[in-house]
Amino acid sequence: MLKVIVLGSGNVGSHLVNLFNNSSQIDLVQWYSRSQITHKKTEVINNIDLLKEADIYILCVSDNAIKELSDKLTFKNKLVVHTSGSTPFQEISKQNKRGVFYPLQTFSKTKELDYTRIPICVESENKEDLEFLKKLCDKINCKYYEIDFEQRKTLHLAAVISNNFTNYLFGLSKKIMLDKNLDFEILKPLINETVNKIHKLDPIESQTGPARRNDQNIIDMHVKMLENKEHRNLYKIFSQMIKNIYDN
Ligand SMILES: NC(=O)c1ccc[n+]([C@@H]2O[C@H](COP(=O)([O-])OP(=O)(O)OC[C@H]3O[C@@H](n4cnc5c(N)ncnc54)[C@H](OP(=O)(O)O)[C@@H]3O)[C@@H](O)[C@H]2O)c1
Repeated sequence: MLKVIVLGSGNVGSHLVNLFNNSSQIDLVQWYSRSQITHKKTEVINNIDLLKEADIYILCVSDNAIKELSDKLTFKNKLVVHTSGSTPFQEISKQNKRGVFYPLQTFSKTKELDYTRIPICVESENKEDLEFLKKLCDKINCKYYEIDFEQRKTLHLAAVISNNFTNYLFGLSKKIMLDKNLDFEILKPLINETVNKIHKLDPIESQTGPARRNDQNIIDMHVKMLENKEHRNLYKIFSQMIKNIYDN
């Protein structure tokens, strides 16, 4: 059994605790949280000095807290990894063996997830630790990818655009509908199909709509309908960028 300790009780920490608890191959030794929490299955501590012996310590804390928390660890030469998409492993204190365990998924504490489909991007300072990280991914039935810092930053950038920005647009669409007393449910099949299409078609092929058809009358009408100046600019920028792709 691999002995694991999770540090941090935000979105990622909470999901990793569930994931490790669900695996018969993992001994989740402890869960460190600076705020007071309780858990039925796992020993929770909020004093860093009470950390026990484990094979790996996974820091699931805000990017700007990785250094501070790792500096507080009192042990040496253990494998300590973080879960950030845009932070080098060098942020972790040198007194331990350093690495990255970056799960490429969007985690919200309140939303259940199918953990088997999560790609984990692994990186480590020492070769033998990389083997350990791969073994850990195997034990929790997750697919791993050996990804260096430059590649991880690019993945994170693509993830922000495809998830965070898209989700912002879902929220904006919802607001536009609710403002006119329209049920957001009506739009959901379209949103689902937009995402499903990427499994069959290249996004360039699957684009539809007024900008793709270069229908300026509709574009102008939509821009006028938007009350917020920033939303009007957003609509114009997106339309122009789509038009640029299909102009030729
Ligand atoms: N959420 C995602 O979808 C996602 C996906 C992949 C990777 N990541 C990465 O995973 C990491 C955690 O993200 P998250 O979404 O879980 O963040 P989060 O929900 O905001 O949780 C952050 C956690 O860090 C703790 N923390 C902050 N400063 C601390 C400090 N100085 N000492 C000890 N604990 C501290 C917080 O404690 P309190 O609760 O006490 O404030 C909280 O438990 C980040 O590096 C993020 O980039 C996130």
